[in-house]
Amino acid sequence: MTTKSDYWSDYWQSDGKEGEVFVNSKGERPAYIADYWSTQLELAPDSGSVLDIASGAGSIYESLTQERRAKLSLFASDLSKKALDILLSRFPEAKAVVCSSLEIPYESQSFDMVVSQFGVEYAGVEAFREAARLVAPGGYLEILSHYQDGYIDQRNAAFIDGAKVAISSGYIETAIELTKAIFSGSKTKVRKAEKPFISSQIVLADYLRSNPKGIHHHLYFGYREMYMKIQNYHESDVIGWLNAMRDDIKKNLIKVRAIREVCLNQADLDAICSVIKIEGMNDPSISTLNIPGTDDIVGWTISARRD
Ligand SMILES: C[S@@+](CC[C@H](N)C(=O)[O-])C[C@H]1O[C@@H](n2cnc3c(N)ncnc32)[C@H](O)[C@@H]1O
Repeated sequence: MTTKSDYWSDYWQSDGKEGEVFVNSKGERPAYIADYWSTQLELAPDSGSVLDIASGAGSIYESLTQERRAKLSLFASDLSKKALDILLSRFPEAKAVVCSSLEIPYESQSFDMVVSQFGVEYAGVEAFREAARLVAPGGYLEILSHYQDGYIDQRNAAFIDGAKVAISSGYIETAIELTKAIFSGSKTKVRKAEKPFISSQIVLADYLRSNPKGIHHHLYFGYREMYMKIQNYHESDVIGWLNAMRDDIKKNLIKVRAIREVCLNQADLDAICSVIKIEGMNDPSISTLNIPGTDDIVGWTISARRD
């Protein structure tokens, strides 16, 4: 049985392909997100301690200058050992612990700053209570969370749509049959395989007209290019590529659906604010982070302080 931890370790092994993730395993992310964290991390006192919950490979710490990094004590927690191994390879001075965000093995009120980026919400509302528990007097909780129907969520919804059409059109299966027929050298087999391929190609091409971007685009044009220069390929390369595309689409569907499930709406935020207050912190302030110069919302920002 695949556990949540296996799933996330696999995520960290396979992530990083261009355009696939918003924040990748090298810590690369849009500049305005990096700037957001540079500003938030200023709140941590010199030689204070910071904990990044569901840290992944440590993209938040990427926003610290080397000088600041040397002064602060950096901590990270995540369900995925693979993610933390990457984090430690980049920030060897950090201390990392593999654990659920619902049960982080540190004393209450022991960090000057607790942060999380697109992470803590994966363990539900109670994980926000756990995050607040760890904030020291005078300390801060700063969280950037997924926003329901925001920019990332809409992009993920579009990905799911395109991926579903890519699979249900039968394009991959019919392309495999057509490829086998071409390499068999039998014209009869090619003619037989062409019909179903053309039908599925029409479905995908129709969809592409109104949805020009996405994994379905990559599939459609990727195979088309191979088909046009098929003499340059081995049969196994083409079929291998098509099978890999199918696996990739299915794997990404699981990942993207999991992200959509944790996007927060106003009711979730009310529940989160109340558990943060139960942990004795001040009333959290909630805002949104937008792509600069646009109305596109990337995430909720949740900030709270303990007196
Ligand atoms: C979308 S990634 C974000 C990682 C990182 N904060 C970043 O922005 O690059 C979500 C992270 O949450 C972790 N995660 C998911 N569910 C978790 C849980 N229940 N407890 C702890 N970590 C969890 C995953 O392993 C993954 O690293």
